[in-house]
Amino acid sequence: MRSILVLNGPNLNLLGTRQPEVYGSVTLDMIEGMCVEHAMTLGIQVVCQQSNHEGVLIDAIHAAKGNHQGIILNAGAYTHTSIALMDALASVELPCVEVHLSNIHSREDFRHVSYVSKIAIGQICGLGPQGYTMAISALISHLEEPG
Ligand code: DQA
Repeated sequence: MRSILVLNGPNLNLLGTRQPEVYGSVTLDMIEGMCVEHAMTLGIQVVCQQSNHEGVLIDAIHAAKGNHQGIILNAGAYTHTSIALMDALASVELPCVEVHLSNIHSREDFRHVSYVSKIAIGQICGLGPQGYTMAISALISHLEEPG
């Protein structure tokens, strides 16, 4: 069975209470539940992981090779700063879809830069929690028909 890693970065464990005017009221647990349910309808497996630590996220990306066929990544603020995360994604050569709950392009200038985008097959942002399920569908389509 195909397996996808859904990886969330710093501060996303606080969803539900963190700046609800920006990120909404849905918790990370609820988002992960949506991902698991959506994956079931597609006949695939998802494994969800979250960390506030850059090195732990890098280790999770390394460990994905051989265990998962692709990665859904919301790297939080590391999106805009982490060359190390970008290098990890490039190293494992797994297709990655980048997700953001908010529309990073309509926010502060520093959020317009994404190192993840340089490696990701695509980016979904500004659509809230449903961005994750859309990303899973997009990744599965890509795995079935790359290009
Ligand atoms: C975010 C956007 C980032 O700029 C921010 O640092 C986050 C969340 C989003 O999901 O909208 O932590 O990735």
